[in-house]
Amino acid sequence: MRIITPSRFKRIVIVSYRLPFSIVVKGGKKTIRRNQGGLVSAIAALSEKMTDAGSTELFKKIVWVGKSSKKLQTVNARRIASAKGLSDKPVSGVANISNGPVSHPYAENTIYQLVPVAIKRSIDEKYYGGFCNDCIWPLFHYFPSLAVHDESYFENYIHANKLFAEKLKTMVRPDDFIWVHDYHLFLLPGFIREAFPAATIGFFLHIPFPSFEIFRIMPKHWRNSILRGMLGADLIGFHTNDYSQYFLRSVSRLLGLETTMNSVTADGRFVKVDAFPIGIDYDKFNGAAMNSREVKEEEQKILSTLQNKKLIFSVDRLDYTKGLVNRIEAFEYFLETHPQWMEKIVFNMVVIPSRDSIPQYRNMKREIEAIVGKINGKYATMAWRPIIYQYKSLSFNELVAHYNVSHVGLITPIRDGMNLVAKEYVACQVTGKGVLILSEMAGASSELSEAILINPTNKQEIATAINKALTMSLIHRTVLLTRMQKHIKNYTVFSWAKEILAGVEAVKKEQEIRRVNIMTPAIESAIMTKFTNASRRAIFLDYDGTLVPFSNIPELATPDTPTIKQLKALAINPTNSVVLISGRDKNFLEEWFGTLNIHLIAEHGAFQKSPGGDWLCNIDPDQSWKSTFAPIFQRYTDHCNGSFIEEKFSSLAWHYRNSPAETGQLYAKELKEEIRALVAHENKLHVLEGNMVIELKKTGYDKGIAALKFVSDHIFDFIFAIGDDRTDEDIFRSLPPNAITIKIGITSSIAKYNLATQNDVSRIIERFIEKNHSISEKSRQNVSPDGTAR
Ligand code: UDP
Ligand code: G6P
Repeated sequence: MRIITPSRFKRIVIVSYRLPFSIVVKGGKKTIRRNQGGLVSAIAALSEKMTDAGSTELFKKIVWVGKSSKKLQTVNARRIASAKGLSDKPVSGVANISNGPVSHPYAENTIYQLVPVAIKRSIDEKYYGGFCNDCIWPLFHYFPSLAVHDESYFENYIHANKLFAEKLKTMVRPDDFIWVHDYHLFLLPGFIREAFPAATIGFFLHIPFPSFEIFRIMPKHWRNSILRGMLGADLIGFHTNDYSQYFLRSVSRLLGLETTMNSVTADGRFVKVDAFPIGIDYDKFNGAAMNSREVKEEEQKILSTLQNKKLIFSVDRLDYTKGLVNRIEAFEYFLETHPQWMEKIVFNMVVIPSRDSIPQYRNMKREIEAIVGKINGKYATMAWRPIIYQYKSLSFNELVAHYNVSHVGLITPIRDGMNLVAKEYVACQVTGKGVLILSEMAGASSELSEAILINPTNKQEIATAINKALTMSLIHRTVLLTRMQKHIKNYTVFSWAKEILAGVEAVKKEQEIRRVNIMTPAIESAIMTKFTNASRRAIFLDYDGTLVPFSNIPELATPDTPTIKQLKALAINPTNSVVLISGRDKNFLEEWFGTLNIHLIAEHGAFQKSPGGDWLCNIDPDQSWKSTFAPIFQRYTDHCNGSFIEEKFSSLAWHYRNSPAETGQLYAKELKEEIRALVAHENKLHVLEGNMVIELKKTGYDKGIAALKFVSDHIFDFIFAIGDDRTDEDIFRSLPPNAITIKIGITSSIAKYNLATQNDVSRIIERFIEKNHSISEKSRQNVSPDGTAR
C-alpha cells in the first residue's frame, strides 16, 4: 500500500515511552532485540513497510523518541552499524542513538533515528513502575482495586512527561508531525502545545479508555490534567468508538467542555476525537504462513511433537489483563466436561516475559506455573501432557508457525485495548483453517465478529466454545475465516496510519477555517486611537460574562464597586453613549445601574431606558403563553439536577449551568426540541439558545434589533460592542460594518476580534477612561479662560 504523504509534514516524530529496540547482553555479547507489545509491533511494521511500498520521503527517516536504557546509550553508532548482520531472529531493525543515523537491515532505505530521553531510575520507578503500571494500567483495564493512588507517582509522571517535552523542544521543526503514543505520555501533547502553539500533534491510545465512572475514580487534579494534556493534541485516536465516546463523556462531565460525536473545542482549538482501529501488516503474516521456508520448518517441529493431536494456541505478554489464569481454569473445565478430548488435545500456552520487575506480575507468573503444574499433574499420562507452558518470546517465524498449525486460537483477555494477536492469528490461517475464540472484552471483537465471542470470566462459555471450535465443519471454518481475513487484509496497520495522517491534515484545515482573530496589542492601540479621534461614541457592553464573570447562581453575579465606578467614569464624557445591553430583567438592571448616566437595554431588548428616563416596553405585554410552557420547563427542572427556571416579563429561561455537563446538554437538547415543535406553527414565540440556558421569548426583538435601533437614532463615528454569549452575536451581526465588535473567549464568532478572557474587559474600559481624560484635556485647552472656543 502506498501512503499518500500529506504535503504539510516533512517528518514524522514518533514519541513513546518504549523504543523499538533494546540491547540484550548474551554471554558478554551485546545484541539488539525488538521490544515486545502491540505498540512496538504496529509502529515497527509501519516503518518497515512504508519504505518497502516505495513511499515518499516522509517514512524514509523515522525519528523515534523514547526512554533510553543505560545499555542502549552505551552502544555507539558504529557498533550498531556493524550489528547489521545479527543472526538473532527477533532483530528487525538497527538503531542509531545519537551519533548519526544507521540504516534498517531489512529495508535499506529506512533510517531509524532513535532519540533517547534519559530518565533517572528513581524517577522511572515511580513514573513507569508506579503511575503507569500500578495506577493507569489497572484502572484503565477495569481493575480499580489494583490501582494505587500515590501522589508521588503522579508528581514523577509530570516530571517524566516534562523530560520528554524538554527533549522535543531541542529537536522539533515546524513541519513535523509529532505523534505521541500511549498512556505513559498523556500530559505530553499539552506541554508541547504550550511550547509550540502551532505544532501538529497526534495522540493515540493503545489501551482502552475507561467509562466515566471508572475514570472519575482518579483524584480530580490527576484526571483533569490527563484530559487537558490529551487535548493539547489536534487529533486524539482510540481503538474503538466506545473508547472515544467514553473519553468525550469524561471531557464533557469533568471539564464542562461542549463536545460533539467526534470533536471538542478546547481553548478555542478544534480537536478531533475518533476511532482508528489499529491493524496489522496482513501480507507479511499471511505471506510468511503461505511461503516461508523457515516457517514451514518451524511448523514441522511443532507437528512432529503433536502426533496428530489437536492444538489450542495462545500467546500473550505476562499480564493480569490477559485472563491467563481464567483461561487455564477454563481449559481444565473443558477437560472435565468433555472427557472425549483427553489425550487428543494439547493446549500450547506461550507467555511473553513482561514487567516482571513488578511484584504483581511476578506473583502471577508463580500462580500460572502452579496451576499449570497442578493440571498437568492431574491429567497427564505417559504419552500426553495437556498443557505446554512456555515463558519466553517467539521469533517471527516461530510465531507464524504456531499460529498456522493450531486448530484453535484461544484469546481471552479480561480487557484489551485491541489485541493484535487475534488479528495475526487470523492472517496466518492458511492451511489449518483454525477457529478463533476471542474475548468480547478485546477491542478486536468489534471487528472480528465472526470469531466465537466469549465472556473471558465464564469457564463454561469458554469450554463450550472450545468444543464448538474443535467440531466445526471445514466449510463453516473457512467461511468465518474468509470473512475475517477480508476485513483485516483491507484495514491494515498502513490504512490505520494513512487515516490518522489524513485525519490530522483535515483537522489542521478545519482549524484554519475556524481560526479566530485574537486581539493583539497593536489592534487594541488602533481601537484606542479611533476612540480618541471620534466625536460621538456608542459603547455596547453585555453584562454576564462580560462586565462580570459568570456565576453559578445568577443572583450572586452582581457588579462590584470598581465596575460601577468604571461605568460612571466612562459615561462622564458627554460624547460617549454607554449602553448596557443584557438578557437580565429590568428590575435587576434598575437596582444596580438605574442611577448611572448610561442607557439600559433589558431582556434582550424587550425593555429600554435612557439615562434619567423611564423604562419603555418594546413588546406585546400578553403573558398568557406562559401557562402552557411553565409546566414543561418545570418537568425538565424536576428531572435535571441543578437546573432552574428564571421567569422574566418577556420570556421563560431554563438554566442548566449547575447541572452535570452531559446531563444538562442532553436535557437542553430535548427541551429545545419539545418547545420548538410546539411553537413551530405560530410566530409569537421564539426559542433562544444562550450560554447554558434555553430561553423561550416573544418574537420581534433581540439584542441585535435593539442595538441597531440605538445606532440608527443617533449619529456615531465610533461604535464598539463587546459580549461573550450567543445572543451577542445578534449585536455583532446587526451593527454597521465599521463597528468594532469583540467576542470574549477564543471561539468562532461574527465579531471582528476575540478577546481571550473576561478579565481583559476592565483593562479595555480603563484605557477608554484614560483616553476620556486626554479628550477632555484637549477640549479644555481649546476653550479660552472666558469659556469661548479658541
Ligand atoms: N509478539 C511479540 N513477541 C513474541 C510474540 C508476539 O512481540 O514473542 C507480538 C505479537 O506479534 C503482537 C504483540 O506482541 O504483535 C502483542 O500485541 P497485542 O496487541 O496482542 O497485546 P499487547 O502486548 O500490546 O498488550
Ligand atoms: C501494551 C502497551 C504498550 C507497552 C506494551 C508492553 O501494548 O500499550 O505501550 O509498551 O504493552 O509493555 P511494557 O510495559 O513492557 O512497555
